[in-house]
Amino acid sequence: MPISSAKIIAFALLLASAAPAPAPARATYQRGLPTDPGSTSVSRYGKITFNSSSNGNVTRATFNNPPINLVDAFVVSDLFDFLHSLQPAPNKTTPKVVVFDSANPDWFLGHYDLHNIELPFTQTKADVFNQVIDCTRYILNTTSTAFIAEINGRTIGLGQELSIQMDMRFAGPNALASSFEDSLGLTAAAGGQPFLGPVIGKARAMEYLLAAKAFDGPTGERLGLFNTYYPTAEKLRSEVSALAERIALFPQHSINDTKVTLSLLNPTIASLDDQLARFIPLMYLPEDQATIAKFIEVSGNQTDSKFELGLPESSVQAVRDGVYL
Ligand SMILES: *[C@@H]1O[C@H](CO)[C@@H](O)[C@H](O)[C@H]1NC(C)=O
Ligand SMILES: *[C@@H]1O[C@H](CO)[C@@H](O)[C@H](O)[C@H]1NC(C)=O
Ligand SMILES: *[C@@H]1O[C@H](CO)[C@@H](O)[C@H](O)[C@H]1NC(C)=O
Ligand SMILES: *[C@@H]1O[C@H](CO)[C@@H](O)[C@H](O)[C@H]1NC(C)=O
Ligand SMILES: *[C@@H]1O[C@H](CO)[C@@H](O)[C@H](O)[C@H]1NC(C)=O
Ligand SMILES: *[C@@H]1O[C@H](CO)[C@@H](O)[C@H](O)[C@H]1NC(C)=O
Repeated sequence: MPISSAKIIAFALLLASAAPAPAPARATYQRGLPTDPGSTSVSRYGKITFNSSSNGNVTRATFNNPPINLVDAFVVSDLFDFLHSLQPAPNKTTPKVVVFDSANPDWFLGHYDLHNIELPFTQTKADVFNQVIDCTRYILNTTSTAFIAEINGRTIGLGQELSIQMDMRFAGPNALASSFEDSLGLTAAAGGQPFLGPVIGKARAMEYLLAAKAFDGPTGERLGLFNTYYPTAEKLRSEVSALAERIALFPQHSINDTKVTLSLLNPTIASLDDQLARFIPLMYLPEDQATIAKFIEVSGNQTDSKFELGLPESSVQAVRDGVYL
């Protein structure tokens, strides 16, 4: 397909995602959340495990997509189903707080599966892309549930874009957050750029985005990316659980009103859509497609490689060494 017509299709798909969400051609959402204390359940593709406490008022949602918690089509689908299940309806109970964590000690969430932005940009890839955007929009517009990211591993690329849109972020000793997409000739399109400015200030966001730098726990805490840094995994978990249980003592309508009010500080949906529209042409640049192909190769096909574990520095070094050319 010539690039220009592919571009038009992608734009149309993006516009479709910005308009009232198209009815996804997928199974209906039957899976409810566990309501028994301590019970567990697993998402459709098993990429997220749930465990509720406080009679369902708090849910831990644990990402698990070995080896690197790559945000692939399955993670996206499971996350979408879960966020969809949180939508309020008459006589339906939803958790007051969701804590996202990870079963992988090295990764909270990895980057997007770059196969999904390799040309040709098929309908399937466009569907996954649109579902990513729907996930971010659900994170922003679900006001009846507070979202906490309990980060004790890498949260890189799309992982960082998802976590930065949650209501609160707490970090442990293994936390490392980065929107490194500028090093690929791309940008952090699904929220990484628009949210980093308001969260840590424009000049610092420029530094971390333009230079593809990473925040460790203490730095992220100092700059306001993380609410608090805890030096041990145990302390992180116990403090976040205590906070979630405390929030869950209060009525859901109060949580909802506070979230509605503070959501006014978010970038507008129109500005988020504009940024996505600017991202698509970058993705189609021949040099960026070459970089994506090379990235997939040097990362051992996005698996548990030194390259993946070394992000974002390994990507910066790859640029210095001319590896992506
Ligand atoms: C689920 O959470 C409860 C505490 O709320 C805990 O006792 C239990 O071990 C957890 N189960 C799993 C499988 O993590
Ligand atoms: C869960 O929330 C409900 C409704 O606000 C409340 O009545 C109940 O006490 C809470 N349960 C726990 C264990 O906190
Ligand atoms: C919700 O529950 C109440 C009380 O049981 C009932 O009267 C009402 O019809 C229910 N509403 C819906 C939409 O199911
Ligand atoms: C929230 O976002 C989802 C996903 O894009 C969308 O389907 C839904 O209509 C939105 N809800 C509101 C109230 O805007
Ligand atoms: C949350 O607040 C908004 C704005 O007042 C309201 O439209 C919505 O119904 C509330 N949702 C819940 C679940 O209370
Ligand atoms: C790369 O990994 C994907 C799954 O992420 C797999 O479908 C594909 O076959 C792999 N390619 C190679 C060349 O191993």
